[in-house]
Amino acid sequence: MTVQPTRLGANAPTPPTLRRGRLISVGDLGRDDVAALFAMAEDYAALNAGVVKKCNRLKGRTQINLFFEKSTRTQMSFELAGKRLGADVVNFSVAGSSVSKGETLADTVLTLNAMGPDLIVVRHSAAGAPELIADLADCAVVNAGDGMREHPTQALLDAFTIRRCFGGIEGLVIAICGDILHSRVARSNINLLQMLGAQVRLVGPPSLLPAAADRLTPFVYTDLAQGLDGADVVMALRLQTERMAGGFIPSLRDYHAQYGITEKALAAAKPDAKLLHPGPMNRGVEIEARIADDPERCLVLDQVAAGVAIRMAVLDALAHAAGPADG
Ligand code: NCD
Repeated sequence: MTVQPTRLGANAPTPPTLRRGRLISVGDLGRDDVAALFAMAEDYAALNAGVVKKCNRLKGRTQINLFFEKSTRTQMSFELAGKRLGADVVNFSVAGSSVSKGETLADTVLTLNAMGPDLIVVRHSAAGAPELIADLADCAVVNAGDGMREHPTQALLDAFTIRRCFGGIEGLVIAICGDILHSRVARSNINLLQMLGAQVRLVGPPSLLPAAADRLTPFVYTDLAQGLDGADVVMALRLQTERMAGGFIPSLRDYHAQYGITEKALAAAKPDAKLLHPGPMNRGVEIEARIADDPERCLVLDQVAAGVAIRMAVLDALAHAAGPADG
């Protein structure tokens, strides 16, 4: 049975700047957009907590997930989000496609666009690929991660998770730790969490901090204990070894000893500090297994659950930016 909850999305105003029909970076969002998306995501989180997790908001719409890079949680999350909204969701498999026969990204996009999708969700190793797609396609486009640049729905789900746990973001001290240099998650989070009034700190070895890190935030640390001192939230990042040409860290063991988020390291943060990680986690490298498995401190699975609700809100808002709802 498909339910049509009365409040769900139907009364929510379209987030103002999402009317352009694209979410490529956090810069596409203003505070009003974020507030509207969070309000919609609260409704969808309630729907997802029920037995029947489905509504008609995107009935008759078509969503293509176009993932050129590996993904477990992000792709599943967008797929479930689209299906729970009632859309027809198609996953494009790069491995079995004409991309492996040498087709250009532009030709692939024009081909898919000719089939009339309403939404394209894209992950690509090249920064800027989602804009190119948004410029070529006639439908709404969501960036699900482009190279080392942006991953806006990850930042939204992280901020949503923090807000639900702490009741707000304003004034919180949030330490983002580890491989900041290669992390699109860090870049999107720095922008969003600062927009929402948090003090964002960056903590990592000098080789894994961007050259102008102090232009992103004045709070930059190479010492973990100093960076975590008094923090409300610690966000650990995966070492993006696939984006490293080598030589960034002496060894994984040294890295863990100096920058691993362990019980001991967390003692520098506030006593009730919470730990986030976008996943996938490398246990014993950036995070100690004992901490990762402690539901009192670690919000990783709350982040995953929040991800589906946030993506439902984003897909709903973008699809309705273009026209009225059918369902
Ligand atoms: C991140 C990504 O792919 O950008 N994962 C995710 O989307 N949950 C981070 C990572 O791969 O380390």
